[in-house]
Amino acid sequence: MKFFIDTANLEQIKEAQDLGILDGVTTNPSLMAKEGISGKEAILNHYKTICEIADGDISAEVLSTTYEEMIKEGDELAAIHPNIVVKIPMIKDGIKALKYFSNKGIRTNCTLIFSAGQALLAAKAGANYVSPFLGRLDDISVDGMNLIEEIRIIFDNYMFDTEILAASIRSPMHIINCAKIGADVITSPLDSILNLLNHPLTDKGLAQFVADAKKLG
Ligand code: E4P
Repeated sequence: MKFFIDTANLEQIKEAQDLGILDGVTTNPSLMAKEGISGKEAILNHYKTICEIADGDISAEVLSTTYEEMIKEGDELAAIHPNIVVKIPMIKDGIKALKYFSNKGIRTNCTLIFSAGQALLAAKAGANYVSPFLGRLDDISVDGMNLIEEIRIIFDNYMFDTEILAASIRSPMHIINCAKIGADVITSPLDSILNLLNHPLTDKGLAQFVADAKKLG
C-alpha cells in the first residue's frame, strides 16, 4: 500500500519524505489556503516546491468547476512537473475533464467520492486515482470503510487500473483497515502516520533494553 501525505505544509512534507516511507502528496484548495498561499503564481510555485521536496505523485487540485476552465487549469498544473496528478472534482464536467486528460496522457485523481457509483464513473472516464473520503462519511454516521470495500470489489471485478486512494483519514485505525481491505493508497495527515509508530509495550520494552544495555558497559 502506498502512503501519501495529505497536506500543503512544506515542513510536514519534508518530515514525511525524510522518514523514507512517502510515496506522494495530496493537496486541496482548503489545505493550500491554510498555508496562506494566494494567487496563481504562488500556487504554481508552491506545487513546484512540493515536487522538489517529495518523490512520487503530487495531486494538485483545479479551482474551477466548468469543463473549459478545468482543462485549461489542469494543463497548466500538469506542465509544472511530470509527477503532478491533476485533481478533478466528481461532477459532470469533471467526468468530461477526466476523459480529456486520460486521452492526453495526463494523470488524474477524482476527488470528493462518496459512493461506489461515483467511483465507477470516474474509473470509466479513465481516472488514475479515485479519492473516497472516509472521515467525512464517518462524520455523518455512514461507515466509510464499507465504501472502500464496495469500490475494491467493483474495480477487481472489471480489472480497472484506477487506484483506490483512501482520503479524509482521521486515525491510524483508518490506515490499518484500509490496508486490510486492499486500498491501493492512503492519504493521511502526518500525525496519523506517526501514530502508527506507537505502542506502550514498545516504550516499556525499549526502556528495559536501554537500562540493561548500561549494565553491558
Ligand atoms: C483528499 O484528497 C482530501 O484532500 C482530504 O483527504 C480531505 O480530508 P478532510 O476530510 O480531513 O478534509
